[in-house]
Amino acid sequence: MNPQFYWGAATASYQVEGGIENNDWSEAARQGKVPPAGRATDHYNRFEEDFSLARQLGHNAHRFSIEWSRIEPEEGVFDESAVSHYATVLDSLRAHGLEPFVTLWHFTLPLWFSRQGGFEHPQASEKFARYCEYVLKNLGSKATYWITINEPMVYASIGYRVGSWPPFQKNLLKFERVTKALVQAHKLAYERIKIIVPTAQIGIAKNNIHFTPGWHPLALFMRWFWNHRFLRSISGHQDFIGLNYYFHHQFGFRQQLPKSDMGWEIYPAGLYHVLMELKRYRKPVYILENGIADTADTQRAQFITDHIEQVNRAQRDGLEVKGYFYWSLLDNFEWAYGFKPRFGLVAINYSTLERTVRPSALVYQKLIQSSGILK
Ligand code: FCB
Repeated sequence: MNPQFYWGAATASYQVEGGIENNDWSEAARQGKVPPAGRATDHYNRFEEDFSLARQLGHNAHRFSIEWSRIEPEEGVFDESAVSHYATVLDSLRAHGLEPFVTLWHFTLPLWFSRQGGFEHPQASEKFARYCEYVLKNLGSKATYWITINEPMVYASIGYRVGSWPPFQKNLLKFERVTKALVQAHKLAYERIKIIVPTAQIGIAKNNIHFTPGWHPLALFMRWFWNHRFLRSISGHQDFIGLNYYFHHQFGFRQQLPKSDMGWEIYPAGLYHVLMELKRYRKPVYILENGIADTADTQRAQFITDHIEQVNRAQRDGLEVKGYFYWSLLDNFEWAYGFKPRFGLVAINYSTLERTVRPSALVYQKLIQSSGILK
């Protein structure tokens, strides 16, 4: 008997829900610094329809995020109607046969918290853990898998080093400080959640990159700095490893590779290598994001097929991979790029909000149905 394998797709609150006006991204949009998300895909009201599409496409799990600014619109003030919305979302996932993987924080901060300096605030981890505690007290019985933080290194790097996402800073000291604060925030949240729901399975979603050539000093350094430093610093505080894989970075001589609409190189074998790097943690691995922007839908089917083949290969080589979530179920708001990139298995017409299943979603469905090793 094959153990349970979770197949699905992922979304995140600000990218799909619509109507979120009380966080740092919506404020940055009002200031003209990033595109507005507006009503996005209106997933906040159409989640039933979206989950039933996911189910029809053969998925048995779904990753989504809870919007902190909805749950705690002002410091210490919790909105029960927002909690009951997410309770309905979780019930709906179950009713559709979809195992929920819940992200507690996916990049966007409530305005009150970002105005206090966000994760630069000395009590940031306490504030974050208090929010997580509140969610678990209210919703903890409805899900097993919890992701505290999505892509901490990406958040710290683009927000504090590159400076193109809120809070738009370019300051290496702050980058370091915020990275450390995120380690503390995760650890504290992990401890508090375990007290409330001891059976909760908790991890983070870590964006790891395949750096080549393997012997190159910069590749060696970046593998430690980008891929493993954070994961090591939370060891003992994670029940699984959540992996997001998009990137291959070549130092020195660059082999020409096909690219997505984002200009990101497509290199499925890289997934195998970053997966095998995770063996040292001796924890089950879930691929929480892997996907491609492909408006024409000419590359997506092959992309998914090839990446899943690499998952099979890692399993054959002894890694315990237990889930694969394609990014994303729906076309959505791609941060600083706005709505132009199309990552969805399901296309969105942003004028009518009509959903159309892309042909590649059916290829993914067939792979799920026929997969030999992964069940
Ligand atoms: C990841 C993010 C996700 C989405 C994809 C394309 O870094 O976690 O929200 O934007 O990239």
